[in-house]
Amino acid sequence: MRAAVFRGRKEVAVTDVEEPTAGPGQVKVAVAYNGICGTDLHEYYAGPIFVPTAPHPLTGGQLPVTLGHEFAGTVTEVGDGVEQIAEGDRVTIEPVYRCDQCPPCRAGHYNVCQQIGFHGLMADGGMAQYTVVEARMVHKLPDAVSLELGALVEPMAVAYHAARRGNVDAGDTAVVFGAGPIGIGIWFALRGLGVEDVTVVEPSQVRRDALVPLGATDVIDPETTDPAEHIAERTGGRGADAVYDAAGVQPAVEAGLRCLGSHRQMIAVAIYEAPFPVSLLDLVLRESGVSGSLCYTSEDYRAVIELMARGRYDTTGWVSHIQLDDVIEGFERLHAGKAMKLLVEPS
Ligand SMILES: NC(=O)c1ccc[n+]([C@@H]2O[C@H](COP(=O)([O-])OP(=O)(O)OC[C@H]3O[C@@H](n4cnc5c(N)ncnc54)[C@H](O)[C@@H]3O)[C@@H](O)[C@H]2O)c1
Ligand SMILES: [Zn+2]
Ligand SMILES: [Zn+2]
Repeated sequence: MRAAVFRGRKEVAVTDVEEPTAGPGQVKVAVAYNGICGTDLHEYYAGPIFVPTAPHPLTGGQLPVTLGHEFAGTVTEVGDGVEQIAEGDRVTIEPVYRCDQCPPCRAGHYNVCQQIGFHGLMADGGMAQYTVVEARMVHKLPDAVSLELGALVEPMAVAYHAARRGNVDAGDTAVVFGAGPIGIGIWFALRGLGVEDVTVVEPSQVRRDALVPLGATDVIDPETTDPAEHIAERTGGRGADAVYDAAGVQPAVEAGLRCLGSHRQMIAVAIYEAPFPVSLLDLVLRESGVSGSLCYTSEDYRAVIELMARGRYDTTGWVSHIQLDDVIEGFERLHAGKAMKLLVEPS
């Protein structure tokens, strides 16, 4: 079968590899779509970062590895002992390997497992015609959710988990910094949670324009509008009930802290590439805080799938498709800012 194999920095080969089969407790999936994520770009241009160069403690996987952790497809084989999943089921995959034993796992927060691994980084992933996963990673898609949307459940679950960590309620005011796939996902999640008053801050005109057909009504350019002044005006000086940083840069974090209302949280979801100085005085003066958000749990997956089934997600204008053979060209387009989310079609 064909697969996009990562062998090291700037080395991804679309090549023939052995087709996997489902062992006990495993499920084989024919991949319909696999999204390219910023993490894949980091591996390609600056890696290996997350891809291990020695066997991963949970998966045993290491370089070289087939990329792809955002995918959906159709079950073609189930291993011994797998119940409730059958050949022909349309599924999306929650690509997390966890140890079940460390303190976060035991507390139910397996998204911050001390040994966490990802299918498509620490084990061969979904940028291939077929991939084999653990049965517990499988989420069935209802008829109303297409395989295309199914491949977006992973990044949308990252965003949904972050949105929930802001402790928002219907009627609240929220601000999202960055309108990449994660920022857009936070916008969808907030709307799904009943938060209608959402301001999106994004310097790229193309990305600001992409949000309008989705229904975003307050999208500002931080280069011409001061976000904190804008939010103070919108809230009568109260400040935002939740702020999300999906940009990962100093100006966004600085502006975000100034937008926060008292006793409220800024949720840091970006993977910060470098440390930078920020003043915590804005937090002190409002007794507000900053919390991180990592991945998702199956609860977030179920919530996103349900919102998708209710028609609350729209791919218009920000999602496009490419063939597996063109995956490197896809990396280049994303890297150059010429696309926002690309779904690879392996078959
Ligand atoms: N925590 C997690 O579990 C998790 C999972 C996946 C991705 N991420 C991270 O989330 C972040 C967002 O992901 P993405 O795929 O949407 O990235 P992206 O690079 O596509 O989007 C970031 C956006 O921020 C915008 N931006 C730049 N400066 C800004 C500013 N001053 N104010 C507002 N916006 C600004 C950029 O123009 C860009 O559109 C990345 O750092 C990614 O690594 C985190
Ligand atoms: Zn990802
Ligand atoms: Zn663990």
